[in-house]
Amino acid sequence: MATHTEQLTRPAVRLHGLTRSFQGRTVLDGIDLELPAGQFTALLGHSGSGKSTLLRAVAGLDHGVEGEGRLSAPERGSVVFQDSRLLPWSRVLDNVLLGAEGKEAAERGRAALAEVGLAGRERAWPGELSGGEAQRAALARALVREPQLLLADEPFGALDALTRIRMHNLLRELWKRHRPSVLLVTHDVDEAIVLADRVLVLENGRIGLDLTIDRPHPRSYREPKLGEYRERLLAALGVTEDH
Ligand SMILES: Nc1ncnc2c1ncn2[C@@H]1O[C@H](COP(=O)(O)OP(=O)(O)OP(=O)(O)O)[C@@H](O)[C@H]1O
Ligand SMILES: [Mg+2]
Repeated sequence: MATHTEQLTRPAVRLHGLTRSFQGRTVLDGIDLELPAGQFTALLGHSGSGKSTLLRAVAGLDHGVEGEGRLSAPERGSVVFQDSRLLPWSRVLDNVLLGAEGKEAAERGRAALAEVGLAGRERAWPGELSGGEAQRAALARALVREPQLLLADEPFGALDALTRIRMHNLLRELWKRHRPSVLLVTHDVDEAIVLADRVLVLENGRIGLDLTIDRPHPRSYREPKLGEYRERLLAALGVTEDH
């Protein structure tokens, strides 16, 4: 049996030589990557660089895709997307429970909704929720299973700036409480550096930069020390700031 220390240091996700191609075009080109258990990692990259392809591979949602390589990921994983993907004909609590039945499941669902600030909205229909509320319900649905791995593909991409900042705080709080390994795909450098402890940049099918963000939380966008990380990431993305 694994010791406690082994459990803490053992990588949650391991990719070795992961390759993915579409119609002969290589998108992921032999990626080697380990995500330690409980680490909060962000993945940046240009549009079309393969971020979602990588996330889908880790989630095991790409059966039948051309590719090779070895991959191991925890059995208990949850995925959150840019849109909440709530079923419109199911009430919010039923969406969160995803078919799980019984009193105990319902209690867990209610607790998860309370954690994301949606206590009292259990019987609402998804159509009655705002965009931010729907994403919070999606987070509750992801968390109710106590995932060891939380995969999120631009989960705040469709939200306004203010709601987005609230969601950042919420996600970080939830992570602190539940400690899943997180892989957050984003195209937003600021979102990555304010939330994650490690930021990867996907470039030409490989991890072009692997940066540890060694700053305490909570972080503010305006924190001067974060500026250095920001510049390095923007440079890796080929963006230069002219002021
Ligand atoms: N099922 C598919 N069939 C064919 N091509 C695909 C498929 N899925 C992805 N691709 C191609 O692979 C490349 C990477 O796509 P992917 O969606 O992973 O990019 P991304 O980094 O997530 O981009 P964005 O930031 O725009 O979401 C793109 O050129 C895309 O057209
Ligand atoms: Mg994408």
